[in-house]
Amino acid sequence: MNNHLVWARAHTNIALVKYWGKLDSQLIIPQNSSLSLTLDHFYTDTGVKFDATLSIDQLWIDGNQVPMEQKVKDCLDAVRSLAGFHQAAIVKSYNHVPNSAGLASSASAFAALATAACKAANLVLNGKQLSRIARRGSGSATRSIFGGFVEWHGGNSDLTSYAEVVADPVELDIEMITVILSRKPKKISSRDAMQSSVETSPYYPAWRNQAHLDLIEMKRAINTNDFKTIGHIAETNAMRMHALTLSADPSFTYLNADSLAVIELVRSLRMNGIDCYFTMDAGPNVKIICQQLNESIIITHLQQLFADENIVVCKPGPGVKIINDPRK
Ligand code: DP6
Repeated sequence: MNNHLVWARAHTNIALVKYWGKLDSQLIIPQNSSLSLTLDHFYTDTGVKFDATLSIDQLWIDGNQVPMEQKVKDCLDAVRSLAGFHQAAIVKSYNHVPNSAGLASSASAFAALATAACKAANLVLNGKQLSRIARRGSGSATRSIFGGFVEWHGGNSDLTSYAEVVADPVELDIEMITVILSRKPKKISSRDAMQSSVETSPYYPAWRNQAHLDLIEMKRAINTNDFKTIGHIAETNAMRMHALTLSADPSFTYLNADSLAVIELVRSLRMNGIDCYFTMDAGPNVKIICQQLNESIIITHLQQLFADENIVVCKPGPGVKIINDPRK
């Protein structure tokens, strides 16, 4: 066993066809397959050490010890069971993403945790196997093992629910401008929200069918470098996901007035011939999907509404990597 922490860095991803709903909440098997773009700007560094002298797992986030989270334990347990030992672990994580604000902090966090923990346990796994371990912490983390456009095959069991690369975006000019409207943790976790959507929205079966069709069309668009279709499907898919929380009982929404202002801006830019689209996750922040040629004009419009530090340009990002201790 390693006597120092083993570190991994994973980047966030934003889904272009969203995951929303579980078939199995223990193993985190989704109701539908999903597809995302890994981004370069936001990431998490996580260090793990298994230690026979520890009696219980320890979790440190951004330099502070915090109570162990069940999701972290689930991910560590998956690694321990594969490695065939029961040692407790020390986990230290540094987030370069605003937490729990719909910016996919759990995606980068659990992809980094799974990768660092497997390496610390001396397990040699390929990306597909790592994605199955990351999945045990958080569904969206399955996709953050890889860079570029990534599909999470929903499957129906631990073995069949994994991620793989669909395409490397070098061929395609695509980026996302993240508009940070809130850095506060969300009031309702995506975990609870998607469960309520599955259980109470009468539109849930329609979502599942449509997400399946969206995925097929999205892959076709990616493979033919068709930016307009990628943006169009991503936008309609996101709004249909948000229609599930609006149609749940009790009903709620992650969108706030600023989110709607960004959405209106994107629509009006598009009416004026600037090709851009929006997507949103479990939080009010909006990501604008665009191409580099339109980046500066979109930013100029955003700057009239929002402060510079809340406008972040994200390009396609890499898959997870083992790194040196980032604190040194
Ligand atoms: C809206 O992966 O955070 O970002 O599996 O319960 O941890 P858990 O949920 P999580 O949900 C992500 C939802 C989403 C869509 C997506 O990333 O596909």
